[in-house]
Amino acid sequence: MFLHNRNLCRLTTNGVNLAARARQFSGQPAKTAVLMLNMGGPQSTDQVHDYLLRIMTDRDMIQLPVQSRLGPWIAQRRTPEVQKKYKEIGGGSPILKWTELQGQLMCEQLDKLSPTTAPHKHYVGFRYVNPLTENTLAQIESDKPERVVLFSQYPQYSCATSGSSFNSIFTHYRSNDLPANIKWSIIDRWGTHPLLIKTFAQRIRDELAKFVPTKRNDVVILFTAHSLPLKAVSRGDPYPSEIGASVHMVMQELGQTNPYSLAWQSKVGPLPWLAPATDDAIKGYVKQGLKNFILVPIAFVNEHIETLHELDIEYCDELAKEVGVEEIRRAAAPNDHPLFIDALSNIVADHLKSQQAVNPKFLMRCPMCTNPRCRESKRWYQQLCSSQ
Ligand code: FES
Repeated sequence: MFLHNRNLCRLTTNGVNLAARARQFSGQPAKTAVLMLNMGGPQSTDQVHDYLLRIMTDRDMIQLPVQSRLGPWIAQRRTPEVQKKYKEIGGGSPILKWTELQGQLMCEQLDKLSPTTAPHKHYVGFRYVNPLTENTLAQIESDKPERVVLFSQYPQYSCATSGSSFNSIFTHYRSNDLPANIKWSIIDRWGTHPLLIKTFAQRIRDELAKFVPTKRNDVVILFTAHSLPLKAVSRGDPYPSEIGASVHMVMQELGQTNPYSLAWQSKVGPLPWLAPATDDAIKGYVKQGLKNFILVPIAFVNEHIETLHELDIEYCDELAKEVGVEEIRRAAAPNDHPLFIDALSNIVADHLKSQQAVNPKFLMRCPMCTNPRCRESKRWYQQLCSSQ
């Protein structure tokens, strides 16, 4: 039996848009802006090329020889195959819709949790596709909030993802004036927050309940996260250890009910990346006689191409049939789960209450970092956050 959640990207929470519209037209300017940072995804297939081009020319995300020439060439070459994948999941990425919904729900709760910093307004800043972070910063500046919270939507920190988003804000303000009278602060990682952990645990329980009781305790919980080049790991990128911490906490929350493992998906190119690959892990366990699985995307808070295509279509459907899996299910991403909205709003409310504008860990570089942009960016953030 091969089951996956093709309809996860449908947004069904009606009253939310009305609430957001009411906020938008209330005429009351936001006192606190919460900028939700993420990589983004093309909303239609005609955005795929530019999206890939931005990724392939971002040296924080990927380092290629003669990148200014090779990057555009790879983007051009990969566009048709990536467009095909987006067509197969409905024509575009749902990440913007999910982020908007999460932001609206989060701000409604924040207004109640933290009345002294209300009204709160969410903004979306994507790294590789509209709404691009630099354009959103211009929008925030024209709205003139008293305070801006830069909130990474990657729960676990990597220099290739969260680091790239933060570096892009630094790059933007290197050539643009920093607006006066705004207080800035940063939420850079939150992969072990208790409410995030509870969200993942509940998503897993929901899928476990669909297995017959005689099989349930033997189901392998296979956590899967985007892989990372070993070169970045050797520089000291914190991502693998932060993913491991999330996995550990989720299994603790579940009471260690099932066998589990961690694998890495979506590797590109010939160089060595974190392994085992998720598809190899499935094949390996089937050979060992373990044939029932729940795949858990542990590093992304929305459905996106890697869940809807790679996990649902390529692994839960095609690979599962090919290698003789008995039953495989996929835990939904956090999306608009109420526990997850509580997580977002509590993380921001606690941050607003704290006197700490930035986590000292954020200001450190990887021990073997050789990227001059990281050095300048971290210095700039240190100044930005100490002048608050
Ligand atoms: Fe990690 Fe520069 S690569 S701080």
